[in-house]
Amino acid sequence: MRKGRLKPGQRVQLTDYKGRKSTITLAEGGEWHTHQGVLRHDELIGQTEGIVVANDAGYEYQVLRPLLNDFVLSMPRGATVVYPKDSAQIIQVADIFPGAHVLEAGVGSGALSISLLRAVGDTGSLHSYELREEFAEIARGNVEAFFGQQHPGWEIHLGDAGTTPLEIEQPQTVDRVVLDMLAPWDCLNMVKTVLAPGGVWVSYVATVTQLSRLAEAIRDSEGFTEPEAHETMLRTWHLDGLAVRPDHRMVAHTGFLLATRRLAGDHRPLQLKKREKVSEPSAEDKAAWGGNQEDAVWDEESLKTRVVSKKKARRAAANAQTIADKAKGVPQE
Ligand SMILES: C[S@@+](CC[C@H](N)C(=O)[O-])C[C@H]1O[C@@H](n2cnc3c(N)ncnc32)[C@H](O)[C@@H]1O
Repeated sequence: MRKGRLKPGQRVQLTDYKGRKSTITLAEGGEWHTHQGVLRHDELIGQTEGIVVANDAGYEYQVLRPLLNDFVLSMPRGATVVYPKDSAQIIQVADIFPGAHVLEAGVGSGALSISLLRAVGDTGSLHSYELREEFAEIARGNVEAFFGQQHPGWEIHLGDAGTTPLEIEQPQTVDRVVLDMLAPWDCLNMVKTVLAPGGVWVSYVATVTQLSRLAEAIRDSEGFTEPEAHETMLRTWHLDGLAVRPDHRMVAHTGFLLATRRLAGDHRPLQLKKREKVSEPSAEDKAAWGGNQEDAVWDEESLKTRVVSKKKARRAAANAQTIADKAKGVPQE
């Protein structure tokens, strides 16, 4: 599917001189009709990718096989897909390796499933759990279209990811867990049961409120290492002669990743020194994250921001006044 000469049944991406991309599936005797004319598939079949061909009106296209990134961004979608920049991070942060046994939920459109399957390879396995049958069907179609056949290591199971894996996975046999769903904290007990000691659990969440709730739930469960969070910002660049600069537009936000590892048995995480300074979430903290909003206290202490002493603030104010006086030409003593 991915190399050699172009064959019927394979997808190719055609890019015109305006950079517009279209994907077609090659068929013997097939034709691709646009306002610019007709391109006969037989002109492409048997050729290598990377050629430039013209349609019957002389309009030219670059011909390449779509990459995984191209495929994911143009495939049919039900739920929102994980963007390639985040899939790449997930593979790295979750340390997905060839031969690994990975559990994923939810499946959505199957974008992340494709990256996970590629990373585990033919010797690995991916068990994907999804609540909604219609999403599972979209994902099935997309995965099959990408690999050109069913992947030998892939199983989709319909059901709630918080409970269904407990009927299917043996305890402590899953090497990696990757969750992209609204309430990943509902899976805490499931992950604690099926994930092998040392196994990595990565969750992709869209909002800070989910991130915070999940991090606190993981800490409270005491079966995992201190969770670590990050986001990935990707800024593309404009390259045109001397006009080399960041593009004006970017996808500013997709989601956050939260990663942790399973400790063995009943072993509890070491309390890292720096955590000693940070108090347990108070009733006010919890109220601020969705309880009774009137009880929320938004002060420096609850937000863990730097508290500036009165003395330091007075000194800064005096400095500011001195600088202002100088600027206004007020004589200095
Ligand atoms: C944002 S989508 C996942 C997108 C997917 N990662 C992709 O890249 O295409 C979230 C999915 O989680 C599923 N989901 C939500 N809660 C679930 C649960 N408790 N168990 C299983 N799936 C769940 C939803 O039905 C939805 O399909």
